[in-house]
Amino acid sequence: MTTAAVLTAAGSGSRLGRDTPKGLVTVGGTPLVRWAASSLAAVCERIVVTAPVDAVGAFVDAVAGVGARVEVVAGGERRQASVARGIDALADLDGDDAVLVHDAARPFMPVAVFGRLLSALETHDAVIPVLAVVDTIVTGVGGDLRYLPRPSLGAVQTPQAFLMGALRDAHARAQAERFEATDDGALAQRYGFRLGTVEGDPRGAKITYAEDLDAAERRISG
Ligand code: CTP
Ligand code: MG
Repeated sequence: MTTAAVLTAAGSGSRLGRDTPKGLVTVGGTPLVRWAASSLAAVCERIVVTAPVDAVGAFVDAVAGVGARVEVVAGGERRQASVARGIDALADLDGDDAVLVHDAARPFMPVAVFGRLLSALETHDAVIPVLAVVDTIVTGVGGDLRYLPRPSLGAVQTPQAFLMGALRDAHARAQAERFEATDDGALAQRYGFRLGTVEGDPRGAKITYAEDLDAAERRISG
């Protein structure tokens, strides 16, 4: 059985406010996409990276020699389309092979979480890492404000683990009905696959703003 990864890095990183795509921005001198690909290489034989269409060559250089067979493909307009391109690049995988779908924007997720996800995949079609929410969460800001019960809330991270057959099927069905979600676990759940959860890790926090990058830089050098 093969374990592969789709590593999304085709976003522009507009909220980070840099000239280069977010995946090429460095922490400790290493591009974010390389941090993420290197840790995935601990459990994956193959990694498909989605890059901005005009930066594929730069991403090839950024992930060279990470220790797995890596291929860089041009991503799509939105994250879900980028994941779909990554799935297409793994067309030779079997339905019962394992795929981790991960974001280069979460470069420091510990490898231990990958292990938890892949273990849980033995009894599920899809598994997501969830982190307990520390803030009180409300909905309807600016209108009908409602408090949500915190004990039942969780923040969903990546990577998310899938049986290749389930991931392919969920994406094909979402595309057919033009359904879009912010993660792949939502697609798996929508189309009736067995979705499990494991504990996430705060070190897998997403780098979105300049402050997140500064904090990561301090942690690496500390
Ligand atoms: N992503 C992608 N293809 C897109 C959009 C996003 O592969 N068309 C990827 C990003 O590269 C990132 C992940 O999806 O690794 C999560 O997206 P986000 O954190 O929003 O990153 P960006 O879209 O790059 O940032 P921003 O929204 O600030 O522009
Ligand atoms: Mg984005």
